[in-house]
Formats: sequence, C-alpha cells, structure tokens
Amino acid sequence: MTAQRQLHLGAILEGVGTDQHSWRDPDLAGDASIDIDWYIRNAQLAEEAKFDLVFIVDSPFITPDTAPHFLNRLEPLTLLSAVATQTRRIGLVGTLTTSYWEPYNVARQFGSLDHISRGRAGWNVVTTGLEGAAQNYGREEHFLHADRYERAHEFVDVVRGLWDSYEDDAFPRDKAAGLFLDKAKQHRLDHKGKHFSVAGPLALTRSRQGQPVIFQAGDSSEGRDLGAAIADGTFAASQDIEAGRRYYADLKSRAAALGRHPDHIVVMPGLFPVIADTDEEAQAIARSQQEALDIGKLLVQLGRAFNYHDFRQYDLDAPFPDLSGVTLNSYKGHAERIIADARENRLTLREAATRHGQWRSGFVGSPETIADEIERWFVNRAADGFNLRVTRPAEFALFRERVVPILQKRGLFRTDYTADTLRGHLGLPVPLHRHAPHPAEAPHDLVEAAE
Ligand SMILES: Cc1cc2nc3c(=O)[nH]c(=O)nc-3n(C[C@H](O)[C@H](O)[C@H](O)COP(=O)(O)O)c2cc1C
Repeated sequence: MTAQRQLHLGAILEGVGTDQHSWRDPDLAGDASIDIDWYIRNAQLAEEAKFDLVFIVDSPFITPDTAPHFLNRLEPLTLLSAVATQTRRIGLVGTLTTSYWEPYNVARQFGSLDHISRGRAGWNVVTTGLEGAAQNYGREEHFLHADRYERAHEFVDVVRGLWDSYEDDAFPRDKAAGLFLDKAKQHRLDHKGKHFSVAGPLALTRSRQGQPVIFQAGDSSEGRDLGAAIADGTFAASQDIEAGRRYYADLKSRAAALGRHPDHIVVMPGLFPVIADTDEEAQAIARSQQEALDIGKLLVQLGRAFNYHDFRQYDLDAPFPDLSGVTLNSYKGHAERIIADARENRLTLREAATRHGQWRSGFVGSPETIADEIERWFVNRAADGFNLRVTRPAEFALFRERVVPILQKRGLFRTDYTADTLRGHLGLPVPLHRHAPHPAEAPHDLVEAAE
C-alpha cells in the first residue's frame, strides 16, 4: 500500500442532516432520511464517482431536540441490504453499538449483509454515547465509559470468532456422495468471557472478503485503544490538520505496539466542505451559513457531547462554565476536547458553541482549493481518506463532478474500481481463517488485493 498509496473516499448518507440546519436546503426532500430511494440514488452516485464506501451513522436514543436526521430514519442494516441489491461495487458500512446488542445477532446480520452484497459489508463499531439508550434496552443506567470499551473488545472478539464458524471449504455439497457438510470443518466457539457467553457455531460461512471490514468511531484514549486493536478503518473526528496528524500518528503507533501493520488501519476523518466556483464565493457561502446558525440549536448540539447537558442555563458571553459536576460518561473524547479547548483559548460559552456545536469545516473554497486541502492532509499523514457528509444535493454534486476529477488527475484517487470487495477497495488483506490459517488453503484470490 505504501508504494501506490491511494486516497479513500466514503459517503456518509445522512438524509436531512445530523446538524440542525441542512434540512432547510430547498433542494433537499424533507423525508430523505426515511426514503430508501434517496439512499439508493446517492449510493449509486457515489459508486459512479468510484467512492470506496457509503457510511451509515446511528444511535439508539433521541430527544425532541435531536438533529433532524436522527429524529426519523431507517435502521442501518435494513437499509444497507436494500442498497446492496441496487449497487455492484461500493462498500456498505453500517453502525451498530456493542453496548446494546448481542454478538451472535451482530455476527449474523453483518455476515448476511456481506453475502447479500457479495463481500462489500463493513461494521462501524461504536459503544454509544447517550445515556438514555440504556432505557430502551431494559437497563436503568448506561454502562460506564470504561466498561463500554471493555465489553466492546470482547464483543468484537466473539463476533470475529463466530464469523470463522466454517472453514471456507466446509461444504462439499457432493450430491452423488450425499455429503453436504464436512463436519470437521464446522467449529463451535465455546466462548465464556466476562461479558458474553456464546457457544456457536454461527449458521453462516464467510464471504468473498473473508470477514466484514471493521470500522471504529470513538476518540477517547480507550476508543483509540479499541480502534488500534480491532479496526481495519477508523471514522475520525479530527478538526484540523495538526489534530489530524496527531491522531493519525497516535492511532497507528498504538496499532504497531500491538504488532499490527499500520497500513492495515485506514484513517478517514469526516469531511464537511463548502464548495463553490471560486474561493471568494465559497467563503461568502460559509459566512452566510455561519450567520444563519441559531445559537439555541448550537447549544443543544454542544450539550449532546455531555449527554444533552442543558447549556441554555448559562450566560452566553461569560467564560465557558465549570462542568466539574457534569458526567463525562457520554461522548467522553469529544467532551474532553471541548473543555480543553475552552480552557486553553479562554472561550466564552457562545464561542465554544459556535466552534463545537457544529462540525467545523476547514475545507472552504473552489474545487481546486478543496482538492489541495485533501491532498495536504493525505500527503502529511493526517488522513488516508475522508468520509464526506452527503446531505445537501448541490454540495455532493460539486464534490463528485468537480473535486473528484482533480484528485483523479493528480493520481491520488482511482479512475475505476480495481476490486469488487470493500477489503479490496481499501487495500486490506483477507483475514486468514483461524482454523485454516494457510493462505494456500483459502479459496480467495484477494489475499494480496491492493489498489
Ligand atoms: C467521529 C465519531 C463518530 C461517531 N459516530 C457514532 C455513531 O454513529 N453512533 C454512535 O452511537 N456513536 C458514535 N460515536 C460515539 C462513540 O462510539 C462513543 O460511543 C462515544 O464517542 C464515546 O466514546 P469516546 O469517548 O471514545 O469518543 C462516534 C464518535 C466519533 C468520534
């Protein structure tokens, strides 16, 4: 991968938007988040532009103040199964939490999506920030942050074990001999751990890419340790290139310390560009979007990192409030960054809400400028690629039609697919089977698949 390092692009399909403002875009249908045709159409557009993957974010708790997309949306695995049948090449990554599911279900669902899509499935592993989720799953209290991550490690371990329930040649399906299964090649897991007890086997073979690709999103130290241990890719929250470089180096060195090849974790920060024909126009659009922001809604978004703490109770123009009594059990990594930034830069609450109550975009300008900035992050190892937010139609069109061709012309991004699995797009090897760990025994031709 180092010799021909290629940029990776994902499209976060988020309907009417996970911010508080995009839904008012006149070109965006109000029901985009629950319209399967909207997802299919945008996945097909991303595929025409040769994106690596589409990405579906999710979380199992809302309030009346939650951002519009989250208020009313389709469940990720169900919608990705529909998208799978209407696309051919693009990867399909869905978010599911390790805090409120069972590994057996998750292994089965993503294993099925991997077969339905013929090797294009990915699972974004999250531990869930919002405490209210507990009460949707029969618990009074949310798991503590440290416990969530401890469960997540074991959860993923179990899921991966279940995915290897059958060796790749377990089914001779020899009609003449009457031999459907070679029983020696079916394996129970017999896992008994601190959090889960799962016997297995799972009633599903591996797909063409061996196992679904694993993404991870969560930025605290515990989150990074999880990503370093289990992830093939991370959805990063880096807000500027310096923070991006620090995150990239830190994550990859944590992975290397665990004996992993650093190229086998693809770092993809979120990308929220403002694009126009010229830099001046883009700056003007960014300014007017900024002026249209409603401070009340920014305070709600700011509060989300602190489990929807109500910031409306404080003076907007006083220094950022002392939150020592407020829980950091929610989006801990994000919350800690906000507190540190407010302290270091002596921010008022208004300033903190403006900075952190929205995804800030350092990517504002003409297509050429956006491509320059992407290249700068890529070359300086702040990113291996980006997850582009897809909500406003004109913005997505400009990116596909104007930015992607520049990246292609510079040799940074593919002009056509060279693989047909998500692992293949990302330049990741097929994981060896734990019960038959010799590549020669695996029927895959993608072990060395690279772009
Ligand atoms: C960039 C990014 C994206 C995330 N996306 C989701 C998501 O879609 N659903 C979810 O439940 N949690 C999501 N999370 C939250 C994490 O999984 C985790 O539950 C929470 O952030 C606490 O972990 P942390 O303190 O390690 O960041 C995301 C976190 C980050 C940093």
